[in-house]
Amino acid sequence: MIAIGCDHAGVEMKDAIIEALTEKGFELKDFGTNGDPCDYPDKAKEVCAAVVSGECEKGILICGTGIGMSIAANKVKGIRAALCSDSFSTRFTRLHNDTNIMCMGARTIGPGLAIELAEIFLTTGFEGGRHQRRVDKIMAIEKEN
Ligand code: RB5
Repeated sequence: MIAIGCDHAGVEMKDAIIEALTEKGFELKDFGTNGDPCDYPDKAKEVCAAVVSGECEKGILICGTGIGMSIAANKVKGIRAALCSDSFSTRFTRLHNDTNIMCMGARTIGPGLAIELAEIFLTTGFEGGRHQRRVDKIMAIEKEN
């Protein structure tokens, strides 16, 4: 199960991703918003909680730029969130950073690219090896603070 949420800037993109990925066989849980204005940190908290608890395997967060969502998501213990706007970074953040949340900007990229990036994010595995040590060091920083 994949958690997905957005603020008011990202509703159309969220719905387009849900429709396209559902057709491809992914299961998504829609955390809204479905139109009502909301503050992106609140939505980031909800989606991240679903990932940290294990209810959802990964999460997708959308706001105007994706930046606010990524800042908020990375404050949640257990979350490694990446702002994704190109296929190379999206692939490598999974391969090397084992990110569990992707963030996208509905005002910076179009829905077609967003759908493609979401599919890359959800189907690319973590490479492990030397990258595991680096991810462990990221998570150790979290414990120091
Ligand atoms: C909302 O207007 C906008 O600030 C938000 O969607 C996002 O871009 C913040 O980073």
